[in-house]
Amino acid sequence: EKHFSEDLPLKGKKITITAGPTYEAIDPVRFIGNHSSGKMGYEIAKRAMQLGAEVTLISGPTHLNIDENKIELIRVTSTREMYEAAHSKFGDTDVFIAAAAVADYKPKMVADQKIKKNDDSLTLELTKTEDILASLGKIKSGQKLIGFALETNNEEENARKKLEKKNLDFIVLNSLNDQGAGFKGDTNKISIIYPDRKKDFQLKSKKEVAADILNEIVELLDA
Ligand code: CTP
Ligand code: CA
Repeated sequence: EKHFSEDLPLKGKKITITAGPTYEAIDPVRFIGNHSSGKMGYEIAKRAMQLGAEVTLISGPTHLNIDENKIELIRVTSTREMYEAAHSKFGDTDVFIAAAAVADYKPKMVADQKIKKNDDSLTLELTKTEDILASLGKIKSGQKLIGFALETNNEEENARKKLEKKNLDFIVLNSLNDQGAGFKGDTNKISIIYPDRKKDFQLKSKKEVAADILNEIVELLDA
């Protein structure tokens, strides 16, 4: 098998990706989570590996598998664990892609025993989780930093705010308004938003979307 350098444009590059949901414990048997399948992040990891990159995938709970001989897989459950894994890799990463659907809030107190059914209503007090991507944006020094945004209204404006606030190189806007797009299914319709421009893409499989995103990253590293 012959490989030319243009086949492996990411050879020598280190890429770290977050994928899937995070789970926040309520008690020993219950959690707050979301329906993210992790598919987008896993497809990005596979494509980056095919293009020659050294890939680390930090994954929340999913049913997906990946070839661990070719991709370093760090499994995490909570946002705190994902945050710690992300920071442990960030100093030695060229490109960081945050594809995870991170929980925004977690229970303020985690019960150490299973909560019993007593009163007619139960109130859980929640507190914000760490914003992993924003924390990396504050310390980045040469790394390319890429985020995702899932919006239902004022999509471009909201995505641009995240791009700026989190100090990203570009953000992938995922529209829930489009048929067949979303974080549960197998297809996505994205726009890639840069500080000074925007590119719109057709509805495609997540595998094809991953290829489009990696093309942008190759261009970004070449620029
Ligand atoms: N993100 C993160 N850590 C968090 C929340 C989000 O790293 N605690 C990352 C996601 O992986 C994604 C980007 O930030 O790449 C945007 O996530 P999103 O949920 O769209 O935005 P939020 O900043 O959480 O704002 P909101 O949910 O209110 O729209
Ligand atoms: Ca969020």
